[in-house]
Amino acid sequence: MPKLTYFSHAAWMIETNGDTILIDPFLDDNPTSPVKSNEVKADYIIITHAHGDHIGDAIPIAKRDNATIISNFEIANWCGAQGVTAHPMHIGGARDFPFGKVKLTQAFHGSSFPDGSYGGMPAGVLVTIDNKTVYHSGDTGLFGDMKLIGEQTPLEIAIIPIGDNFTMGIDDAVKAVEFLNPKKVIPMHYKTFDVIDVDPGEFVSRVKSLGVDAQILEYGESLVY
Ligand code: NI
Ligand code: MN
Repeated sequence: MPKLTYFSHAAWMIETNGDTILIDPFLDDNPTSPVKSNEVKADYIIITHAHGDHIGDAIPIAKRDNATIISNFEIANWCGAQGVTAHPMHIGGARDFPFGKVKLTQAFHGSSFPDGSYGGMPAGVLVTIDNKTVYHSGDTGLFGDMKLIGEQTPLEIAIIPIGDNFTMGIDDAVKAVEFLNPKKVIPMHYKTFDVIDVDPGEFVSRVKSLGVDAQILEYGESLVY
């Protein structure tokens, strides 16, 4: 059974069948991460968009571990130019990897690299392992087609931002849960910086009042699903 671990912000790890997949590994410069990049390993690294708090330490980790980066075409090319193995995809596209299936979804956000260069469209990601799908929405505002995502792909876990300012805040994230209709919701992208310091407990209790399971994962905490 896959194991999901939260490193705070939008940084996650999924361990399965001997493969370790990192998503948005913002660790070394992340004031809330319980681990640094030299304490994690990766076989694959999924990057939702080019912002520094999502690319994070992906390049040095990929170089060190010979991991494959999975991202949109623009980010994959940028990573490839730095000598890293990268698999390009784009929104709406799915592909089977040895560990499971990855599909990129739309996200409403920006995606420039820290140096200002173009990172293509931001994305969310559906990761399906053992017929169970985790949706990591990336940074996004609320959008109505979350309903379509949930209808097409029954979601075991939806990981969505609640921090407001840069992404959905709590009100919109609760609406997102109605659209996505997942079995379980876990909030992300809060408290890392003062401007996104919201109370995940308020979000979780409001989601539970919809009849959907919701859980706060503490920084470094894992969940087997
Ligand atoms: Ni962002
Ligand atoms: Mn972000």
